[in-house]
Amino acid sequence: MSPVSPVSIVTCDLILIGFGRVGRRFATLLRERRGVLLRQHGIGARVVGIATRRHGCIYSAKGLNAPALAAAVARGNMITSASAVGAADAGAALAFLRTAAAGSRAAARDGRLVVVETTTLDIVRGEPAIGHVRTALSLGAHVVTANKGPAAFAYHALARAARRAGRRFLFEGAVMDGVPIFNLVRETLPAVEVEGFRGVVNSTTNYMLTEMERGRTFDEALGEMQARGVAEADPSFDVDGWDAAAKTAALANVLLDARMTPHDVEREGLTRDTGRRAVEARTAGRRLKLIARADRDGRRVRARVALEELAADDALARLEGQQNALILRTDLLEEIAVVQRSGSLTQTAYALLSDLVTVARGATTMTGATGRASRRSRPSARVRRSP
Ligand SMILES: NC(=O)c1ccc[n+]([C@@H]2O[C@H](COP(=O)([O-])OP(=O)(O)OC[C@H]3O[C@@H](n4cnc5c(N)ncnc54)[C@H](OP(=O)(O)O)[C@@H]3O)[C@@H](O)[C@H]2O)c1
Repeated sequence: MSPVSPVSIVTCDLILIGFGRVGRRFATLLRERRGVLLRQHGIGARVVGIATRRHGCIYSAKGLNAPALAAAVARGNMITSASAVGAADAGAALAFLRTAAAGSRAAARDGRLVVVETTTLDIVRGEPAIGHVRTALSLGAHVVTANKGPAAFAYHALARAARRAGRRFLFEGAVMDGVPIFNLVRETLPAVEVEGFRGVVNSTTNYMLTEMERGRTFDEALGEMQARGVAEADPSFDVDGWDAAAKTAALANVLLDARMTPHDVEREGLTRDTGRRAVEARTAGRRLKLIARADRDGRRVRARVALEELAADDALARLEGQQNALILRTDLLEEIAVVQRSGSLTQTAYALLSDLVTVARGATTMTGATGRASRRSRPSARVRRSP
């Protein structure tokens, strides 16, 4: 895209809650793309606060050197400074958030304060992220997150909170990293109804299925995903289908106006016997895949994650290794397929960056808060402008 000269520069103050692999890559990506954000979008962004669970917290109204702090944390160092509030639990992170938002009061008042939430997902309740999002919105901040918890467990409540606060709640990185799904529907498919979806949304299990078809064992394939840092810290989260169920709930809540959590998604995972099934399917010219799907059933939405044998010419059957894909079934455009050929931390960090740009330029035209206008609120959502 050719450079444009924005009329004015908006400077966003960012508070990062969570500074692990994704949060740190976001910090360095922000530095790498600084010139582009300024020249093409008129957006300046500076990190003013960072909160972690075990590595301390730091705040400076003047801005922090986030890439240097990222390098320090990657080396195992603490980032706590004299001006920081230490955090050891979820409550402490909330206290930090309040202190930091008070320090950046002017940015919050002007709609320039953004909380970037990248803490670890707790699959039982979706916390602590939900509390972080709710508190951030109540303090006048916009929220962008790569965490699946908020959209999977509390999408409608948080969307309402965002609308009431006149702030944005965006979560593109929650599903398929930076590949646009929520943005695609919200920004480019006006008046199109999504009726259902099916997809392969977990990289670890697709890689394991591909490798087990070739004769490798469950443990060998999983071990490789752990060694590469792709599998979640607790591999049962991937293998038992929880990660896919969380993504399915998030997609169903946002795209199908469902009211569900990952616990409402019928769920099957991989077991040591799955390798035999994968080999048998392959021998018969088919592929065994872990399919996430959701469909309308009258007024209800049914969702499940299950192993399915697919015909070889099915678009999802062609996915190899860590590839993901989602097929949306729509009323006007029939099926739309989005394929992610590889995933990386950079792609997840990019999802946060693209959400930040959306926040900063107030570009959306539907709800003032989040993804899709709900069916129930659609008439009023049409006239509500983005803040
Ligand atoms: N990694 C990926 O490729 C990827 C892709 C898409 C989405 N995601 C999602 O993005 C999020 C972050 O992933 P990640 O790989 O960066 O995880 P991570 O490396 O484990 O980092 C998690 C961060 O959250 C902090 N944290 C945890 N609980 C906290 C609390 N109560 N208060 C404050 N800070 C807290 C941790 O602090 P300490 O280190 O001090 O404990 C750490 O800085 C997760 O929700 C994940 O599901 C990740």
